Amino acid sequence: MGYQHVSVMAAELQRFLSPGPGDICVDGTLGGAGHALAICRAIRPEGMLIGLDQDNAAVDHACQTLSSCESTVQLFNENFVRLPQILLELGIDAVDAIVLDLGLSFYQLSQSGRGFSFRADEPLDMRMNNSADLTAAEIVNQYAEKELVSIFQKYGEERWSRRIARAVVIARKEAPITSSLQLAGIIVEAIPHRFRKERIHPATRVFMALRIAVNRELECLEKFLAFAPDLLKTGGRLCIIAFHSLEDRLIKRCFARLAKGCVCPPEFPVCTCGQKPTARLLSRKVIKPSAKEVEANPMARSARLRGMVRI
Ligand SMILES: C[S@@+](CC[C@H](N)C(=O)[O-])C[C@H]1O[C@@H](n2cnc3c(N)ncnc32)[C@H](O)[C@@H]1O
Repeated sequence: MGYQHVSVMAAELQRFLSPGPGDICVDGTLGGAGHALAICRAIRPEGMLIGLDQDNAAVDHACQTLSSCESTVQLFNENFVRLPQILLELGIDAVDAIVLDLGLSFYQLSQSGRGFSFRADEPLDMRMNNSADLTAAEIVNQYAEKELVSIFQKYGEERWSRRIARAVVIARKEAPITSSLQLAGIIVEAIPHRFRKERIHPATRVFMALRIAVNRELECLEKFLAFAPDLLKTGGRLCIIAFHSLEDRLIKRCFARLAKGCVCPPEFPVCTCGQKPTARLLSRKVIKPSAKEVEANPMARSARLRGMVRI
């Protein structure tokens, strides 16, 4: 079975990004390369796509998918926080468009065997980058109980965080927790009986929280937001699809701050900071996938798209 992933909000993203012939574009999260392929088609023949993914399986797959593109394609097995250095190495100081489509690909969730899902029994790894140092097993077996509570609460908004963390700490005294089904079983047992049969599986939130912690997803996004707008040409576009409310909040605040410019406290009658807006929002409201898309691809259900143009 090859690398599988269905791109989310493909039409909406292309409309926001509006890549054109000759553009230099960055896809910081190649995944199944669906968005990257659409960009390559729009920028040919003279354009350039710079594609990054921290998962080497995604880069290998993108290499094949994009091999027949007429535009120039440069692919890197890198974290998108390294984008400024990569552009420097390529001798590029500004680009026409940057896209991130955060979260997991279907391949990672269902085919990678890295324990992202509790549908099959897999080693508790959860690294997108398989040479990174931290695994989910290390967190679950070594972190203090209160650190586990904080991860489950902050990244998973899990109401039973304390009970689950307690159960994990008790279970690991008996034997190390090494597999996805073993952890899912501990989580199910930890929550009260009447909440075990809810619509979403009781382990869903804890698995998401662990994945976010393992891959330092919020830290990476924060670092990226601090430099990415400055890598755009005037008129260049930055579009991000997020799947978690904490990510979406970071993006919303960053774009709003750039579009506002002024940083004076709201009680100041007139602006004294003199800072001007450096961005225009592509839409005031966040863009969500259509009901039809969610029905066809349930992985799209929590996707949220925001975009800005550099002015
Ligand atoms: C949802 S998929 C992208 C799907 C892609 N847009 C498509 O159309 O097929 C997310 C991808 O982003 C990658 N990723 C997540 N965080 C990353 C980071 N900080 N740096 C580089 N790649 C990252 C994951 O490894 C995964 O392959």
